[in-house]
Amino acid sequence: MDKIKVDISQILDFVSKEDIKAFQQKINKAHESLIGKNGKGNDYLGWIDLPTEIDQRLIDDISKQARWIQQNAEILVVVGIGGSYLGSRAVIEALKHSFDYLLPGGEAKKPIVLYAGQNLSEDYLADLIDILDDRDYAVNVISKSGTTTEPAVSFRVLKNHLEAKYGKAAASKRIIATTDESKGALKQLANNEGYKTFVVPDDVGGRYSVLTPVGLLPIAVAGFDISELAKGAVDMRKRVLATASIDENPAALYAAARNALYNKGRFIEIMVNYQPNLYYFTEWWKQLYGESEGKENKGIFPAGVSNTTDLHSMGQYIQEGERKIFETVLSVEKPLRAMTIPEDAENLDKLNFIAGKNLHYVNQMAEKGTTLAHKDGGVPNMRISVPGITAYYLGQLIYFYEFACGLSGYVLEVNPFDQPGVEAYKKNMFALLGKPGFEKETAAIRKRV
Ligand code: PA5
Repeated sequence: MDKIKVDISQILDFVSKEDIKAFQQKINKAHESLIGKNGKGNDYLGWIDLPTEIDQRLIDDISKQARWIQQNAEILVVVGIGGSYLGSRAVIEALKHSFDYLLPGGEAKKPIVLYAGQNLSEDYLADLIDILDDRDYAVNVISKSGTTTEPAVSFRVLKNHLEAKYGKAAASKRIIATTDESKGALKQLANNEGYKTFVVPDDVGGRYSVLTPVGLLPIAVAGFDISELAKGAVDMRKRVLATASIDENPAALYAAARNALYNKGRFIEIMVNYQPNLYYFTEWWKQLYGESEGKENKGIFPAGVSNTTDLHSMGQYIQEGERKIFETVLSVEKPLRAMTIPEDAENLDKLNFIAGKNLHYVNQMAEKGTTLAHKDGGVPNMRISVPGITAYYLGQLIYFYEFACGLSGYVLEVNPFDQPGVEAYKKNMFALLGKPGFEKETAAIRKRV
């Protein structure tokens, strides 16, 4: 079977093989710590075995709920922020028809998944309510802590709307809560109101939670095969757990190569895609790496571009701007659809020389040409190639990036599984809003604004 591969050939003008190999020892130690579960943040390593623990009972439970939503709703609103929505959105956007909202309806049509609680925009939520007024919908409210402000605020609005639209009892059937097994405000509310609940395991942090019901329920509702997703993750897990060698383990190679580049002053990594449906996969990756590594005044800043679109905007900077960046191209070998470029009798655009070629071939040449141009301009380029965008390979990619992130974070000597920095803005926001218990902070911050 085709495999996900990491190609470092286009970074070797910037770091030597020896520079990368020098990380082998640190990678060995990180690999041991992840598997032995004895490194920093080891109470959040549940994601390591997660793919093998997705049993048929869980799949059946999720599938049953997903079917109910498919039969009773045109829209599923996923309410969550950060790790509580980015994983499902990454997979759904990657697999769905690009214009699914315009596809004709009918039996086979799956609910459109929309998102709320990932911002505090009044206009966004009001626009969403406009759409929900006239359509049947359900809500999957997702919060591990059960106390995050953005989803809690949006959920209040949606709960009121649902109850006004369907009545309290019927509304309760349309709300599914994914949260802690026993504690937190959301769990308590779900118990009080009789919502169906799914559990976020204690030892899995938000950004590593896509293979729990956090990601699996919305993905199943959108009509995608969660068993295949899990199978992909199981296969990648086997591959990256087997050895720490950077010659055999692609996650180890990626982690070592990016740390070698970081050591040479390349502190911005740009994930590059040539498929617009990978936009949210990049967003998921940005959260995974940014939140895991950016601490103690260290870490590579994860950025993203979607090409060839962004070659006409960010392309200029990447070619000729500050040389602190490197790129990692997530390259798709085969598209799922076929589209050839037609012959044109007049040939005014002079494109007949590529008539008959598949668009993907042109895209691949754009990728190759760009990689070389950027390398010539002083930007190291790594390439992670995936055979195709399917549920199976997305499962592989998810586990690949998670495992590489754990390795890379340990090489950097940070705790890749906490996010203490996220609290600072919350404290200020609560103080500015005058939250009870924040009186001292409120008085202090009001003098500053
Ligand atoms: O990765 C993380 O832990 C965070 O991004 C959380 O997922 C995010 O802050 C949402 O938290 P919660 O699920 O508790 O509402």
